[in-house]
Amino acid sequence: MPLLDDLAAIREQAIDSLKAAADLPSLEQTKGAYLGAEGRFTTLLKQLGTLPREERPAAGKAINAAKQEIETVLQARRDALELLAALPKHPTDFTLPGRRRTLGYLHPLTQVTEDIVRAFRHLGFAVADGPEIEDEYHCFDALNTPADHPARDAQDTFFLGEGETRPPQGNGRLLRTHTSSVQIRVMKSRTPPIRIVVPGRVFRRDNADATHNPTFHQIEGLYVDKGVTVGDLKGTVEAVFHEVLGADVKLRFRPHYFSYTEPSFEIDFTNSLVKKLGKDWLEIAGCGMVHPAVFENVGYDPEIWSGWAFGFGIERIAMLRYEITDIRRLYENDVRFLRQF
Ligand code: DAH
Repeated sequence: MPLLDDLAAIREQAIDSLKAAADLPSLEQTKGAYLGAEGRFTTLLKQLGTLPREERPAAGKAINAAKQEIETVLQARRDALELLAALPKHPTDFTLPGRRRTLGYLHPLTQVTEDIVRAFRHLGFAVADGPEIEDEYHCFDALNTPADHPARDAQDTFFLGEGETRPPQGNGRLLRTHTSSVQIRVMKSRTPPIRIVVPGRVFRRDNADATHNPTFHQIEGLYVDKGVTVGDLKGTVEAVFHEVLGADVKLRFRPHYFSYTEPSFEIDFTNSLVKKLGKDWLEIAGCGMVHPAVFENVGYDPEIWSGWAFGFGIERIAMLRYEITDIRRLYENDVRFLRQF
């Protein structure tokens, strides 16, 4: 049957050229050439009617089988070409090194705080915490700080509420001016012996300049036990500074006045860096033996208990350690600056 011979030839050519189509448009074009209205396959189908009646069923069956085969090849090639078309123009080079996510760094203030806390932990101190929004009682009264003390002036302290100035009397709310308020909270909630450090944020009405900022950080220390001496205070503070800032550190305890300690001292610090800044000493902390009136305020018998306390400025220590000359750099969150530490 010549028609079936033609069919075999057309079927084979159709399958070959469909498989050879290099892209989707040429695939569709090939499809039209065989299966379109004027296509070679369609033409063949039309010839079916010219066959003798008894030959038609077999021929029809063969044509349909071939057509199905061609359509299967067409669909497979279409799927493959669509997949290719969806690929990026430039293939991925899987041998290239991966893109790294930059890891963050700890802020210099955090590093210094963690180092100081770690040094105190080695000596058996625990970390305590207290609120940044305080009241006058914990920040001043309980610390034996009289009502007419300049720290309690509205020029020096951020009072909260009504007009943000200090209420005439009573127990107004304020942003704590020092971490010493936590001494009171801890002593009121525990019984001695007490060994704590308190890192935290404090607030004062200061204009920002190279050495001042209205928000800064302190670390408070408190040790209460029987028979505690100034020698314990000195030895402890010296051990910590040597661990945090190096063995060439020298400390000097200078008499001072704080209303919550008696005697009171300021601690001056020096090392090669301080000398480099052209100075002999830098004031770095306040400290002293806990005042008996403070013990009475928290319900401890001052005849039995003794103790010392201190407050360090964290910024000062960070600036010394990293040779930072302007405190404001610490708060600008400029990663070009922060990345150096
Ligand atoms: N609170 C003081 C300040 O902010 C620092 C200080 C001095 C803390 C003596 C103390 C202390 O615990 O005993 O300047």
